[in-house]
Amino acid sequence: MIEIRPAEPADAALILSFIRKLAEYERLLHLVVATETDIAHDLFGQNPRVFCDLAFWDGAPSGFALWFHIYSSFHARHGLYLEDLFVEPAYRGRGIGKALLRHLAQRCEAEGFNRLEWQALNWNTPSIDFYKSLGAVAVDDWTVFRLAGDALKKLAE
Ligand code: ACO
Repeated sequence: MIEIRPAEPADAALILSFIRKLAEYERLLHLVVATETDIAHDLFGQNPRVFCDLAFWDGAPSGFALWFHIYSSFHARHGLYLEDLFVEPAYRGRGIGKALLRHLAQRCEAEGFNRLEWQALNWNTPSIDFYKSLGAVAVDDWTVFRLAGDALKKLAE
């Protein structure tokens, strides 16, 4: 049976392990520098701006969704940005991923938010098919821009 609950400070190590497993699946583990201390500070410190829901199957940790708030000025409405979604391989296909997204959709409804948004790697067709099965559509007419590393430092000078 699926249970979803907000993450608590004692879950920091579990959250980091899910982050690392997702990065490994996405072949991006070499980019992960986040530590348990970072997670504990950012999710459970004062005035956290990023949040996490954990999924359990018969009490066993089976997946997570990590999210934060976004805003659409055109609609004057907040929304939620899904940064990470991951279900343990052994627990996939049991409705856990859908339950995590439904939980976020319900939060949007309850708070009057009009949008739940995320990015998926172009090659990740299983998750893209999963998202489409829920009614999500790919936004193809916008490009994600990123300023980071030396370019970010240089612009800041
Ligand atoms: N193709 C088509 N439909 C699918 C697929 C698929 N590959 N996978 C699931 N579905 C459908 C299911 O049939 C089900 O439909 P139903 O409700 O009509 O029965 C529905 O989607 C829900 O499936 P779940 O069992 O809830 O999916 P699951 O628990 O396996 O979670 C997830 C899906 C999160 C994509 C999981 O497979 C996973 O962790 N994959 C690896 C990591 C990953 O790709 N994460 C997303 C990266 S993008 C990001 O993090 C924002």
